[in-house]
Amino acid sequence: MISVLVTGKDSQLGLCIRDLQDSHTEILFDFKNSKELDITSEQSIAKTFEANAYDYCVNCAAYTAVDKAETEPEKAKLINTIGVKNLALACKNHGVVLIHISTDFVFDGKKKTPYTEEDLTNPINVYGKTKRDGEIEIDRVLDRYFIIRTSWLYSQYGNNFVKTILRLAEEKDEINVVDDQLGSPTNANNLAELIVKLISTKNKAYGIYHFSDKGTTSWYGFAREIFSRSGVKVQLNNITSSGFYTAAKRPKYSVLDTSKISKEIGLISKDWKDGLKRLFFQTNISSDL
Ligand SMILES: NC(=O)c1ccc[n+]([C@@H]2O[C@H](COP(=O)([O-])OP(=O)(O)OC[C@H]3O[C@@H](n4cnc5c(N)ncnc54)[C@H](OP(=O)(O)O)[C@@H]3O)[C@@H](O)[C@H]2O)c1
Repeated sequence: MISVLVTGKDSQLGLCIRDLQDSHTEILFDFKNSKELDITSEQSIAKTFEANAYDYCVNCAAYTAVDKAETEPEKAKLINTIGVKNLALACKNHGVVLIHISTDFVFDGKKKTPYTEEDLTNPINVYGKTKRDGEIEIDRVLDRYFIIRTSWLYSQYGNNFVKTILRLAEEKDEINVVDDQLGSPTNANNLAELIVKLISTKNKAYGIYHFSDKGTTSWYGFAREIFSRSGVKVQLNNITSSGFYTAAKRPKYSVLDTSKISKEIGLISKDWKDGLKRLFFQTNISSDL
């Protein structure tokens, strides 16, 4: 039996991992929410790690409010950097492999081709900086870790672009969406499957990896596909970021090159449109808005 701690039990990714439990009886999962395990508290972490003999820790806990982070930088740092360092230290002390999730927002978006793991990071907002600093802490403390950078996560759970845009379509006749930020929408269920695969195969190719669904689109292109898939009719307008104020700057281009994960882990990303199709066919997203 492989024993696995999952932090951030109720995150959209944590919930997608929970859905895989029944089909992976070789893994004993221990899911914790922030009340059961606060990653910013060394005491809380010590108590949890001392009471259990984990093989892996999957960190789904994060401060993910990208715009709010601009006015709450200390809170974002506490969770995304200090909390991650706390977890890394506990993993080191207890011989646990850490699987941590990071983000495309560690890049500045100035490239015009997909970002590889070797590309220089240069976050342009507080969230991205605190996530990058979390990666640095892990690399300082641990040898046995997977850092998986992903992008534009959505699922049937939590708050995400798919749910927001479908809700907006119910409230408004017309929706404006930015067309000059490019990335790869990623179904969190696909990421959950990758994480469980790493664990169940006891993969030892530790390091930093990029994982997203395949292909490139803008938020406008993503919205268009969501409406086409769901059959929702609304007037959709493409605008530029200059016409849509957000507190945090976003990279103009944050497509991740996933060839390393394909080569070393043997995982081929699926097309982002198929990921979206999967969401509408396999889950009951519309009833959960
Ligand atoms: N969403 C995206 O588009 C996206 C894109 C790229 C990368 N990522 C990364 O992917 C990962 C998963 O994202 P997600 O969208 O699934 O997250 P999410 O739904 O926003 O959930 C974040 C979770 O973190 C937990 N948390 C916050 N502070 C905590 C603390 N001090 N101790 C323990 N738990 C705490 C929250 O628990 P409570 O509710 O109990 O506080 C919440 O369940 C994150 O690392 C994120 O940075 C996300």
